[in-house]
Amino acid sequence: MADFTPMGKPVLPTHVGIIMDGNGRWAKAQGSVRLEGHQKGAEVARDVVKWAKDLGIRQLSLYAFSTENWDRPKLEVRGLMSLLAMMLPRSLPDMQQNDIRFRVLGDIAPLPGSARRAVEKACAETATNTGLDLILCLNYGGQQEILAAVKHAARWAMQQPDYDQALDSLNPELFRAMMWRHDVAPLDLMIRTGGEKRISNFHLWDAAYAELYFTDVLWPAFCKQDLQAALLEYAGRERRFGRTSEQVL
Ligand code: IPE
Ligand code: IPE
Ligand code: MG
Repeated sequence: MADFTPMGKPVLPTHVGIIMDGNGRWAKAQGSVRLEGHQKGAEVARDVVKWAKDLGIRQLSLYAFSTENWDRPKLEVRGLMSLLAMMLPRSLPDMQQNDIRFRVLGDIAPLPGSARRAVEKACAETATNTGLDLILCLNYGGQQEILAAVKHAARWAMQQPDYDQALDSLNPELFRAMMWRHDVAPLDLMIRTGGEKRISNFHLWDAAYAELYFTDVLWPAFCKQDLQAALLEYAGRERRFGRTSEQVL
């Protein structure tokens, strides 16, 4: 896995993250219930994994359920969890065939048993695949991830001979190594569908220098051309990381 972030004009992102937003509005426009939007959205997610793999992307993270999404109506939360429990096992043969390694970012402990078991099974059965990492962000929150790393760092420092010295030795690299994302490549491109211009607690740490791409397309209507358009725009961006244009050319 590439663990560097290319400077200058990168051709292809290593890690693409998608905020799959707009399921509810899509359903409403069709005269359907929100859950139908989620159902169609899940099908699109399955397609996107295949497109990303074919386009040569190494890591794809999909924001499926945020820590704040628990506050939605109970029926919708239950529907989303059932969808996950149903769709994941069905997607397994596809994942095996396409050499997809399934992983999760987020705390799956509070998920209903059926969803948690489906997640654990998909992780275990695809663990040795090497084609593309599909990282499902489930009960994921960027603030929660940072907070978990702060607690980890504090405990780590307490176990060192000199607590203050250990704390002072913390730098962004060492801190990131204590985050859930320690073995995930830095996010290169963050895509958000559905028209909103916000991050909604996704990948906060890596958002520092990820390229952001917003599209009005609602997630259930997202197609291969939309992904290609995002990648094309990314290829035209200049990633400077604080340096001057001349330095990164
Ligand atoms: C994204 O679509 C899916 C989840 C957050 C689970 P939404 O359900 O947020 O759709 P809109 O934003 O209401 O249209
Ligand atoms: C972000 O979408 C979360 C997911 C796509 C899973 P939301 O619809 O929850 O975000 P807000 O509430 O509009 O910020
Ligand atoms: Mg939304």
